Amino acid sequence: MPADLANLPRTIWWDVDAKDKVPGVYLIDQTRLPLTGDILCCRTLEGLEIAVKTLAVRGAPALGVAAAMGVALWSENEFSGTTVEEWLSGVDAAAARIGTARPTAVNLAWGAEQARQCARAAAAAAAAAPGDAPGAGLQAARQALVAFARQMAADDEATCRAIGAAGRAILPKDARILTHCNAGSLGTAYFGTVGGVIYTGFDAGLVSHVWVDETRPLNQGGRLTAWEMLCAGIPSTLIADNMAASVMARGLVDLVLVGADRICVNGDTANKIGTLGVAILARHYHIPFYVCAPFSTIDPELPEGSGIPIEQRDPRELEGCIVSGTILPDDAASSQAFDLLTAQGLRHLQLKGGHQMSLERKGAAYAFDAWFKMTPAHVQVYNPAFDVTPAGLITGIVTERGVFAPGELAAALGDAPGGAPAVPGGAPGDAPAVPTPPAAADASAAPTPPGDADEATPRA
Ligand code: MRU
Repeated sequence: MPADLANLPRTIWWDVDAKDKVPGVYLIDQTRLPLTGDILCCRTLEGLEIAVKTLAVRGAPALGVAAAMGVALWSENEFSGTTVEEWLSGVDAAAARIGTARPTAVNLAWGAEQARQCARAAAAAAAAAPGDAPGAGLQAARQALVAFARQMAADDEATCRAIGAAGRAILPKDARILTHCNAGSLGTAYFGTVGGVIYTGFDAGLVSHVWVDETRPLNQGGRLTAWEMLCAGIPSTLIADNMAASVMARGLVDLVLVGADRICVNGDTANKIGTLGVAILARHYHIPFYVCAPFSTIDPELPEGSGIPIEQRDPRELEGCIVSGTILPDDAASSQAFDLLTAQGLRHLQLKGGHQMSLERKGAAYAFDAWFKMTPAHVQVYNPAFDVTPAGLITGIVTERGVFAPGELAAALGDAPGGAPAVPGGAPGDAPAVPTPPAAADASAAPTPPGDADEATPRA
């Protein structure tokens, strides 16, 4: 049976509200997956920036799309000038702001820069078109920017499908894959980089099982990849990060596939914290270790990994555990009690022991976000979000243009098509169809994997 992707939501898309006609960037809130499938609608650059910083949208390729859409969002909803010059200077500021919201994933700055270049090219094209009515050139340029940002999401999916196709070459028959973090569909606009290789390989009968590293501290593996694998019907087993050595030692892993946030010209690769440890283990047990990523994740400016900026995150991610979910009261009396609690909107509950919890009414349900403290007070914390795996530990890099040894990247970069991005012609309506979102903003709309968790528990 092929991978069942129908249950997997799109990660990010552009849409215009049917009622008030205001455009927005829509995304599935990954901070609350898998328990709640909330859809966030961002209508301002600041809103999208917060979504990026809080990891509501995350994963390098998805961040690239978010950055381009953020610039287009500013242009559509916040630009109030009248001249092309004002618009271009605002585009520059918007691109600088969203492009630096997180430091490590190079796709974020790349996506913002692509949008900036698109705006410049569109403005130049408009200026070259003689005889237009006043303001028409600016309007056309703004429309071109929106079309470009929407096209980027479609292109990202196509790139992931190409990575998936290229990945077939590295898969032995009945491969048992170990992966870290989430480089699946949720880390991209759709389909995934590692996800692409897994889904394509599974459909070709080449993948038999996936080991999913939990990926402390934010559990992108346990919350997101495990959920994705269940949605898609891929046999998978969740392990804590410190179990990877044990399953490798038992001969249960044929190859490791991870994503990337920034790949240097020499092949050194930044990815989610813990990736380096997995790579060292793979080398010890003679297991091939592949990075799956688009060319947009390669930073042509960085010769090697020591220059990669590593994001340091809030110590609370390590000091405690975040749980989000939805309460569905089963009788009228409980509903009334929750209604009272949340009558004034978001309600912060006072908990003993430093734990934090907030509750908010969402239709007939009540969404909660809780942070449970697990460590002693005043503990010192070091919380880097990424580490760098040296090229020497990487067997190959699976891209949309094929599989490269780390040492082949520099030459491949020289061959890569360069220059300013093409401005898609025509009105935004001409852009490829916007993916159908899952039902919006209803707490009960959480996409659920088939079967229940117990049923889906795989055997080791
Ligand atoms: O902090 P995150 O969740 O954005 O980190 C994501 C990763 O490290 C992914 O492995 C990487 O971005 C590849 S996503 C296709």
